[in-house]
Amino acid sequence: MPQQIILDVDTGIDDSLALLYLLASPEAQIIGIAATAGNVPTAQVAANTLALLDLAGADEIEVAAGADVPLAVPLRTTEDTHGPQGLGYAELPVSTRPLSDRSAAQMWVDLARANPGSAIGLCTGPLTNLALALRIEPELPRLLRRLVIMGGAFNHPGNTTPTNEWNIHVDPEAAKEVFDAFSAAAPDRRPLVCALDITESIEMRPEHLARLAEAAHSTPIERVAAGDAPEWRSAASNPIIRYLVDAVRFYFDFHDLYDLGYLAHMHDPFAAAVALDPALVLTRPATVDVELAGTITRATTVADWAGMWGREPNADIAIGTDPAVFFERLVTRVGAFARRLYPEPPQ
Ligand code: BDR
Ligand code: CA
Repeated sequence: MPQQIILDVDTGIDDSLALLYLLASPEAQIIGIAATAGNVPTAQVAANTLALLDLAGADEIEVAAGADVPLAVPLRTTEDTHGPQGLGYAELPVSTRPLSDRSAAQMWVDLARANPGSAIGLCTGPLTNLALALRIEPELPRLLRRLVIMGGAFNHPGNTTPTNEWNIHVDPEAAKEVFDAFSAAAPDRRPLVCALDITESIEMRPEHLARLAEAAHSTPIERVAAGDAPEWRSAASNPIIRYLVDAVRFYFDFHDLYDLGYLAHMHDPFAAAVALDPALVLTRPATVDVELAGTITRATTVADWAGMWGREPNADIAIGTDPAVFFERLVTRVGAFARRLYPEPPQ
């Protein structure tokens, strides 16, 4: 049985790797993609997602546009992190395919109702669409087989403010509504949360791009490095590898600029891998809430690990993993997928 996935993204460089990882995984079947405003505005997220699906030969997958703005605050985007269009230095042909005629929230509800107990939700952007879907169908926590969320920072500094992770920062009211909606969920239906505590240990480096190119039989094997001219573009023979080099190199540059090293945190593809195989992480239950009132801590995610609030756990937080196992899967799967899709002509 394939694992049915409802994906909610703000594509986004690392969201695009999450999408490719799922497309490259034989056990995954993406049954719908919701576009949420976050890294870039909703229309750009939707355009990026359609363009990537075209590149990956998956142009039958439905893409539904979500709300243009968060539930209660103006939209903030982050082109400095993800590039002018959200895909780093990469530019993909504009897709001619139309978006779904239903909203992202309605699509969540329809797909969960049509596949009760079997669809896995994966959110790699702000939680606006899911919060809106929960307002339509409060039974979603029981209808979904599993929910994996990339978001939050618990015993770890934020990446947007000293205590805020980006996805929660963009729409804290939505995040609170989602965590509140799971307050009565059975232990096996609690969202599995991949927060910065774990995703910042998933460090992609230039050698991973080279390994991907090798696995795809793409030539030449390019070695990107700090100080490469911003205007430089990949000449990889395989279009997926060419895309990845141009997209991820921007993410390397961004992390380097903030003194994190010439590497990139692969938050979203890691969450995708966990959605397909939760055994990749060790988890710990906690009651999660989102601060909405703080003057300097608004949008902070707080985990009560010890039951001090007297409330049942509403999340399982990933607390341990082996990043090498994830990268091995990423390279093997996406490399083979790229090679299958764009085989090298015989010499
Ligand atoms: C999250 O923020 C976004 O910029 C990334 O795509 C990821 O989902 C990490 O905080
Ligand atoms: Ca994202």
